[in-house]
Formats: sequence, C-alpha cells, structure tokens
Amino acid sequence: MAETTNESFRQMSPAEFFYRNKEIAGFTSASRAMYQAVREFFENSLDATEVHGILPRVTVQISKEDPNNPDFFTITVEDNGIGIPSTVIPDAFGRVLFSSKYKLRQTRGMYGLGAKMAILYGQQNTGKPFEIFSSTPSSKKVYYYKLMIRMDKNEPLILEEGEWPKSSGWHGTIVKLTLEGEWSKRTKDYISVYLKRTAIIAPYADIIFISPSIEGEGKEPEITLYRRVTTKLPAPPKETKPHPIGVDLEMLKMMIAERPSANMKDFLMRSFQRVGEKKAEEILEKAKIDPRRRASTLTEKELESLYKAIKDTKFIAPSSESLSPIGEDLIKIGLKEVLQAEFVDAVTRKPKSYGGHPFIVEAGIAYGGKLLENLDEIAKDSLKGQQGPYVALLRYANKIPLLFDEKADVIWSIVNSEEFSWKTTYKLEQTDVVAVLVHVASTKVPYKGVGKESIAPVEELRKEIEAAVQEVARRLRVYLTKKRKKQEAQEKLRLFMKYIPEIAQNLAYFVTDGKELREASKSLERELLEMAKRKVRAQLEQPEELTHIVPVALPAAEQEGSIEDPSTSEEEEE
Ligand SMILES: Nc1ncnc2c1ncn2[C@@H]1O[C@H](COP(=O)(O)OP(=O)(O)OP(=O)(O)O)[C@@H](O)[C@H]1O
Ligand SMILES: [Mg+2]
Repeated sequence: MAETTNESFRQMSPAEFFYRNKEIAGFTSASRAMYQAVREFFENSLDATEVHGILPRVTVQISKEDPNNPDFFTITVEDNGIGIPSTVIPDAFGRVLFSSKYKLRQTRGMYGLGAKMAILYGQQNTGKPFEIFSSTPSSKKVYYYKLMIRMDKNEPLILEEGEWPKSSGWHGTIVKLTLEGEWSKRTKDYISVYLKRTAIIAPYADIIFISPSIEGEGKEPEITLYRRVTTKLPAPPKETKPHPIGVDLEMLKMMIAERPSANMKDFLMRSFQRVGEKKAEEILEKAKIDPRRRASTLTEKELESLYKAIKDTKFIAPSSESLSPIGEDLIKIGLKEVLQAEFVDAVTRKPKSYGGHPFIVEAGIAYGGKLLENLDEIAKDSLKGQQGPYVALLRYANKIPLLFDEKADVIWSIVNSEEFSWKTTYKLEQTDVVAVLVHVASTKVPYKGVGKESIAPVEELRKEIEAAVQEVARRLRVYLTKKRKKQEAQEKLRLFMKYIPEIAQNLAYFVTDGKELREASKSLERELLEMAKRKVRAQLEQPEELTHIVPVALPAAEQEGSIEDPSTSEEEEE
C-alpha cells in the first residue's frame, strides 16, 4: 500500500531561517535591533578600513525621516574604506551567508550575516528598501543600489541602480537602512557605550555619531565625536592556513574537495600550516596511506584514520600572523584619551593557542584622574552592585566590545575571584575605582553561547587572562605605592618646615653667645632645611621596595614646642 501523508514539505532559505531566528544575531527587540544594526554596519566599516591599513573615519547617523511613522528610524553609516566592487554589492547585501571574510584571519565580522540581518529586520517592518553607495580606491565611479532581500530565494531584489563618475578621490561606502526602532535611554546608552568602548581601543579612528532629534521633546540632534589621536594602526592580520589540530573530520573533507587531484603528501603540505615534508610523511605513515594517493580517492575509513593520525601527531603551535592585537601603546593612548585617567598601563601577552586556534590576550588598566566621570553608563551601573574597591570591566573579543552577559564571562570570574584580591595583593583602598580592560584576539573566540557576548572558561585562555590582569594590577600597585610614598614624604617635609625655624632658634641659643643670634638662627635654618630636603629626596629615589621613610635625625630640642617625632605621627600609620 502506498504511504500517504497530509504533511507538506518545503525547503527553507537561509534568509528565512535567520529572519525567523533573528535573536541568534541579536535582533531581539526594537531597542536592541537599533543597537545591533548600528553595530553591524559600523563593524563592517572598521573591517573595510583598519584591516586594510586605512585610518578609519566612520560617521553613524540615526535620524527620523518619516513624519507619518514616528517609530521609523534611518541609520546611515559612512566610511572611507576599500568599498565593494559594484558587481558584488547586490550579493554582499542581498544574500545571507555571502562574505569576503570566510578566511582564517582576525576580523570583526566572519559570518556573512550581519548586514543582511539588519536589512531583513528593517524591510520586514517598514517595507522600505536598503540603499548603498560605494566606490573602491581604483574605481573611477561611484555605484548606487536600492535593494531588498527576497527572503524566499535568499537573493537580492534590485529596485534601482545608478553610477556616477568620481570627481574626487573618495573611496568608501555609505549605507542607509530604515527600521522600526525605539530611541529610549536604553537604546541610546547601548549605542553610546558601544562607540565609546570602541574609541578606547581604536584611538586611530575618527568616530562621529549623530543621534536623532526628537521633535516632541524639542531636542536637536546630539553629535558625539571621538577624534583620532594617533596615526598608528595595529598590524593588520594575515590570512593563514588552518592548523591541523584545529580541523575536524568534516572540515578535512571540505579541504580535500578543494584540492581533489593533489597527491596526499602535497595536499597536507599545501593545505595546512606547520606541516612540512617530514610531518606529512609521518602522518600518512601513521594513517597507512600512500603519500602518492590522489586526495579524492580516499575512502571514508581512510579519511577517519587520517583524521586520527593528525590528532595523534605533535605540531608546532599555530602561527599568530592571522591575529591583530591592539598593542600596548594603543591601549594606553585610548584609555588615557577617553577616560582621562591619572594612571594607565597595558600589556600584550605572547601568542598562545588552544585546540589548534591561536589567541592573544591583552589587558589594560586605568586609575584615578577623571576616570569615574568618564566611565560609560554600563560600567557605572556595574559598580553599583559592588562593595569596593570598585572594578569596571571593559571586555573585548576581536576588538568588539562585549556589553551583555558580563557575569557569565570568564573574565568577570577571574577579576572577581577570591584569589584576585584587589585590596590585599594590589593595595587598592575600599573607595578606589579601577577600569580593567581585557581583549581576547583569536581566529576562534570560545564564546559561551549563540549571543557571542561572553567568553567560555577554556583553561589555556583563563590562565592568560589571569596573567595579563595580574601584570597590569601589579603595575598599578607599583604606581600607587610610589605615589603614596611621595605623598608621605611631602607631608614629612611640610612638617619639618613648620618646625625648623623654631628648632633653629633654639639651637642658635646654644651655639652663639647671644650677639649674632639672628644670623646664626637663619643659617641653621637654611642648613636644616637642606638636610631635610636631601633626606626626603634620597628616600624618594630609592627603589620602591626599599623606600621606607624614617625620621630625619634632628637634634633634640629641650625647649617647649619641640619637634614632633614623625615616626609616631598619624601619617606614618598607613
Ligand atoms: N562598509 C563596507 N565596506 C566594504 N565592504 C563591506 C562593507 N560592508 C559590507 N561589506 C562586504 O559585505 C560582506 C557582507 O557583510 P556582512 O556584514 O553581511 O557579513 P560579514 O561582515 O562578512 O560577517 P558578519 O556576519 O560576521 O558581520 C562583507 O564580508 C564585506 O565583504
Ligand atoms: Mg559584518
């Protein structure tokens, strides 16, 4: 009997799948969607500039352009990047899972999803198309497209296109998206915090943000500007081949499909990093595969033994060329510029790896000055629940600020662990506030969940984060100890100066016969003052660990008002 069913079947396009599951990409509410859309375009702009050695200048504007639809917001993002070749524009913005970033190197984007999710979100609620202008540096024209995404087919629907000759040397991209959003305090805070935290780690960028004007409230657009304060860019990431340990069986099959006619020895040597002739032979011998075999002829069983042989072989750790850390100088410049702190420092750790994936951890620290007033809203909020010393965490993965799920992050658990005692080990006082920045750069950041907002406690990474934060915390302690010693010494000097005239007068009484009392007293005063200064200066110049302020040995005065022994004064008790 023939099988019957009432079920109907169809295939879902990637565009439809991601639109239905838009929370995967962060589009959970009207407010979050605004933030997420800004992020997606902004990050594309940074990838199109700094990764290619261009000092970024990115303008983000949110405006209300439709008086009939007060909830419609238009997001315009303009950059001076490498642009997009005209023939590729429709696919780059009209096809989910279409990207130039499916390469092994550290960029902000990597999924081929971001811009399209924002566009799908926008068009579904507003029915309005997406617009783009773009020009590459070598192109003589500027290209324009107005398009929508055909969700059922996962392809662009071009509504209008145009091109103009280029009169200036302009290159870059301007995108314009209208979506149904919400300009609440929350939306504003998230976007502002995101941009501010980006400005901290990208002091080489000009970032301009223009917020919407709210007619009802009579509010004019606000302009926030983060000016470039250095022309130094982080070294761009280089594309690398995968490391054998980071590859799984499926990936191995895909790689073979790319080089089907290569012999196995060549295949291994050309497809992977850290595999030379000897290593390739070693692997193939373990897998009992003839090095001359054509890659495409491998049976399923042979593929499995190849995979196993790779796992059983030792390799040099993966190369870190694919990574682009921010660097100690830029972190320090950014922290100083944006937070206006009194003390900043930073450390970039050596590259390490986990499971065949290279990573670099960086940490920065900021203390004092105008730190508290310049901290962003999210950081300030996080301080409220603490008891002091207060630690504001600035987390980043591949240069993207992580604003959500702070407490789920391994960084948070390290910085807030019992063993990490800011008070006893690092000498912070109960009321002190520090900002701690941690950046994890990797070709595969081990995120905890699909939201990609918190980092999982992979042991190799945990150790590096801990070591990095310990290092910057130690440097802060050195600074604070010196600073406190200096304050104590100055206080001592002040005290000495207060009493020296009186001591000098008394001493003069003993050493003169009473006639030149005044002169003797003045000269003694000068000498004592010099002595005190020398002593204090000498103590300040001693290495930090050795410095210990001891009282200047002054002759005891028998008279009333004798000098107070500084060693017992209150200041010394600290
Ligand atoms: N401002 C831009 N300048 C140059 N190229 C861009 C720009 N915006 C997007 N692109 C191109 O369009 C592609 C698709 O962008 P999209 O944001 O959808 O994905 P992605 O950035 O590759 O990955 P992710 O989903 O992680 O953001 C990019 O890979 C890039 O090649
Ligand atoms: Mg992107």
